[in-house]
Amino acid sequence: MATEEAGKLWGGRFKDPASPELMAISRSVHFDWRLARYDLLQTMTHTSALLDVGVISASEFDALKKLISEISSGISAGKINYQDHDEDVHSAIERIITEALPDIGTKIRAGRSRNDQIATDLRLYLRDENQEIVKLVLLLIEAILAQAVAHVDTPAPGFTHLQHAQPVTLGHELAKHAHALLRDCDRAIEIDRRIAISPLGSGALAGSNFSLNVEKLAGLLEFNNAAGNSLDAVSDRDYAVELVFNFAMIGMHLSRLAEEIILYTTTEFGFAKLHDSWSTGSSLMPQKKNPDIAELTRGKTGRLIGNLVSILTMLKALPFAYNRDLQEDKESIFDSVDQLKLTLPAMTGLITTLLFDKEKMALSANTGHAAATDVADYLVRKGVPFKEAHQLTGELVILAEAIGVDISDLEFSHFQSKSGFFEPDITELLKTTAVISARSSKLGTAPLSVSRQIQELHQQVDRIRNWTSNPLVQLP
Ligand code: ARG
Repeated sequence: MATEEAGKLWGGRFKDPASPELMAISRSVHFDWRLARYDLLQTMTHTSALLDVGVISASEFDALKKLISEISSGISAGKINYQDHDEDVHSAIERIITEALPDIGTKIRAGRSRNDQIATDLRLYLRDENQEIVKLVLLLIEAILAQAVAHVDTPAPGFTHLQHAQPVTLGHELAKHAHALLRDCDRAIEIDRRIAISPLGSGALAGSNFSLNVEKLAGLLEFNNAAGNSLDAVSDRDYAVELVFNFAMIGMHLSRLAEEIILYTTTEFGFAKLHDSWSTGSSLMPQKKNPDIAELTRGKTGRLIGNLVSILTMLKALPFAYNRDLQEDKESIFDSVDQLKLTLPAMTGLITTLLFDKEKMALSANTGHAAATDVADYLVRKGVPFKEAHQLTGELVILAEAIGVDISDLEFSHFQSKSGFFEPDITELLKTTAVISARSSKLGTAPLSVSRQIQELHQQVDRIRNWTSNPLVQLP
């Protein structure tokens, strides 16, 4: 059989050949080829059902199984590839099989359609990539936690509105990013439940004529369940939207972390220094050291969000069941996966090698009247209503500014001049370390609390690593 014929999936009802323009707009193999090994797995599973209903024989199935594993290794080794005349991954795989085993290759399309094929391939692919991305997120979380442990008691200025608010520990600041990223991991695990539904056996839209055992097919693919409605199964892309949303969410969290690094490494902040291997120079200004990894991560987040919007917009007016528009989901999905696979390891290296300037941070933590809340709280403990305490402390801030010092540097006599409730211990209580240690509740910034928080985060990392340790998809 001519190789182009072997890969052609339709044409019997056409008298005239397809125009080159039609072929050009239809063609997807140059991007959906990355699904090739998933298509092989799905083909093997579908063919086992054809064996069950007697469409192919046991010896044909065995021959096909052997061939599929050879093709799969050939694809991984880069020895087997698509050809320019292939339309999509499904026709390319059918062509490759048919060239090797013509009698069997021409039978395997019975009872299935590219509509249930693509839906199945995509789910298998996304289960795999979801797990891969979670693994990369875990590595980043571990890098963040290592820095948090190293700086569990390093004082740092805490901000609201990007203005000095209250002093915190740097470990607390860093660990907050681990919390956000762990939520993404948990969401990924929840989304997997909805990805792991098998559309196989849906055929083009109405279900297969061969009464395939769809539950068995789902089990063979290690999905949790078979889909309940074939029309929905071939046109549903909710799982892809959810996952691309989670990818955008991860991107947004990375971007916020990136933004902090960009600020911290400016001359103005000077809180951290970038490692040579993880920063870039300028072609013109010899002194420059730029946080390009953080900036690209922030920039790529726009793409990740754009990919989500692109898929949702593509889906919004689609009548059920399959429509060719659905082919347009692929490049957005693949791009989100690819961008995260670039940004996550780069950010992990950036964080691991970031050198914090402890003295500069501690000095900064002690400015901006960041201990003012503690002055007000001191008065509250002496029985002063908070409203009044707030007012009195505000007046102390004005006094400090008039003298040109921080509120924590005022002398006892200054405090006394505003309220008789102040005692000499006030000046000690306003030292940064005292202010930080006082916030010792479970979620607070005190070093002991942060230590415990980090321990708990490590336990969560272990739990999620457990989920990533068994592959969800067994490729042939
Ligand atoms: N390339 C298509 C997609 O990505 C596969 C399904 C094509 N189905 C069809 N009837 N033309 O959605």
